[in-house]
Amino acid sequence: MFQLHKRKLYAGIGLLAILIIGVSATTQDKPKPNLKVLPKNIDHEALSKIMKEFNVSLGVKCNFCHAQSKTDPKKLDFGSDEKDEKNIARSMMKMTSKINKKYFNFNKEGEGNAPAVTCITCHNGKAHPESKVTLPPPPPER
Ligand code: HEC
Ligand code: HEC
Repeated sequence: MFQLHKRKLYAGIGLLAILIIGVSATTQDKPKPNLKVLPKNIDHEALSKIMKEFNVSLGVKCNFCHAQSKTDPKKLDFGSDEKDEKNIARSMMKMTSKINKKYFNFNKEGEGNAPAVTCITCHNGKAHPESKVTLPPPPPER
């Protein structure tokens, strides 16, 4: 009786382990074939952090750049390149990294070496950064 239980228990543990390994293999290190600027093997956490930073820097939500899924309208199709904003964002990423490399001597390999210019430097929480200066009215004459 006890032997039987034990065997069931081991079988259960074995199955669970296979399940866990299977799930982590499909969610964690699944390569993102449609990454053209970021490394294709970037881990989920790092990608997620960058995307959240985009949201805050531009004052938008994920759907500003990512198109709706064709099969489930409640979801976004993150791999799709249908929205122009996503492609603009790609060129913005390249521009930003070029500015840092060319004008700020930013060395990507350096630990703790933060880029001088990021999306928020220009965007400051807006999708369209300011380009015109509104001068304050001149002080009243005395
Ligand atoms: C300002 C535009 C922008 C916003 C906002 C944004 N993304 Fe992205 N996202 C991109 C770009 C551009 C890429 C592709 C980068 C590349 O080609 O290397 C991308 C790629 C991705 C991918 C990988 C897709 C694949 O399989 O190739 C995921 C997942 C993703 N974003 C999730 C999110 C989530 C979740 C949010 C909201 C928290 C978000 N994004 C907000 C621009 C954006
Ligand atoms: C040097 C300043 C600068 C930096 C840095 C910068 N941007 Fe921009 N970005 C702009 C300007 C200016 C515009 C507006 C162009 C226009 O209105 O036509 C813009 C427009 C955009 C747009 C298009 C908005 C729309 O509604 O069409 C997206 C998306 C975008 N930026 C994403 C990013 C992301 C993501 C980053 C960081 C990787 C970034 N930008 C970094 C200056 C910058």
